[in-house]
Amino acid sequence: MIKLHDLYFKPFISENEIDNAVQRMVDEVVSDVQDEIPVFVGILNGSFMFVSDFVKKYPNPCEVTFIKLASYEGVKSTEDIQRLIGLTQDLTNRVVVILEDIIDSGNTLEEIHRIFKNEKVKKLSIATLFHKPEAYKKDFKLHYVGINIPDKFIVGYGLDYNGLGRNLPKVYQLKTTQYMTNFVLFGPPGAGKGTQANFLKETYNLVHISTGDVFRYNIKNETALGMLAKAYMDKGELVPDEVTIDMLRAEVEKNSDANGFIFDGFPRTNAQAKALDDLMDSKDSQINAMVALEVDDEVLVERLLGRGKTSGRPDDADEKIIRNRIKEYYQKTAILKDYYAAQDKYCGVDGVGSISDITNRLTAVIDKL
Ligand code: IMP
Ligand code: MG
Repeated sequence: MIKLHDLYFKPFISENEIDNAVQRMVDEVVSDVQDEIPVFVGILNGSFMFVSDFVKKYPNPCEVTFIKLASYEGVKSTEDIQRLIGLTQDLTNRVVVILEDIIDSGNTLEEIHRIFKNEKVKKLSIATLFHKPEAYKKDFKLHYVGINIPDKFIVGYGLDYNGLGRNLPKVYQLKTTQYMTNFVLFGPPGAGKGTQANFLKETYNLVHISTGDVFRYNIKNETALGMLAKAYMDKGELVPDEVTIDMLRAEVEKNSDANGFIFDGFPRTNAQAKALDDLMDSKDSQINAMVALEVDDEVLVERLLGRGKTSGRPDDADEKIIRNRIKEYYQKTAILKDYYAAQDKYCGVDGVGSISDITNRLTAVIDKL
């Protein structure tokens, strides 16, 4: 991820993909132009890098010139195109290929056609490295298109955001950050995770996603993913990570107006933690922290034994079983602690004290995320 001025951008199109697109465009132009000597007209500023790479690949004699137009303000295309440098050479009877870095609304292209209206060129064609079909509002034919992209703001490879980013050799896409606060909640059995998650989701307008609940919901409602998960479980097999992550993705998408998510019961492995990072990244978001309630073993045992007296849960009644569950928790979560600590995202919170004391400690940590 990179930051330009106030905005964040994430890698989108690699140097290699750009290179292949440019080469393909050159090949197409070569076969159309045949033995004419074309004049390539680059549209400054954005096209300088594309024009440079394009003509370096062009295997035959050619001429290169530039027009300088300006239309963009910040991240928005404007109607008002300014002609800063017009045509400086006679193009009568020449084969002209316009080289554009990007065609978005098509306003700039309209101005180019206006410029060429009175030029008696032999043939005028338009080549653009990037094109946003969803944003394009004109009817002018685009003869050569490198890469179609969605209607999102990009920088790099000549394209800028308020002056910055033109020098980047690959293309980055603007992150329109969704879901500001996301964390995975950890805690050994008896740490008070459920209680605290309930407070936190109210305080921060977060959605609490408990993997266990998501599984039960999908199986009970016989969703496609639920049936798939059940098929594995019925065979006594573990549900593959992809199925689980698809369920979580559906939960995330269902709650697009949430401020963020508390993940509970997931991830359990490095691969799952990575998959969760990828899921959040695909939503232009991220996991901000692993928040782990830390409670001394003896306190946990005491709490669970107390709970066992009233809850009737058999696994809360036996001290040996309780100690085993706690031990297992630490064995299983150690790798995840390492995973998140490596990204500087591990936040241990003292889970001993009154419920409100612990809530206060948690909110102090989350406020800083
Ligand atoms: P159009 O006139 O809307 O087609 O926009 C064309 C011009 O807007 C391009 O030459 C660029 O200078 C600029 N532009 C359009 N989309 C982007 C983008 O995603 N990033 C950076 N500049 C852009
Ligand atoms: Mg341009």
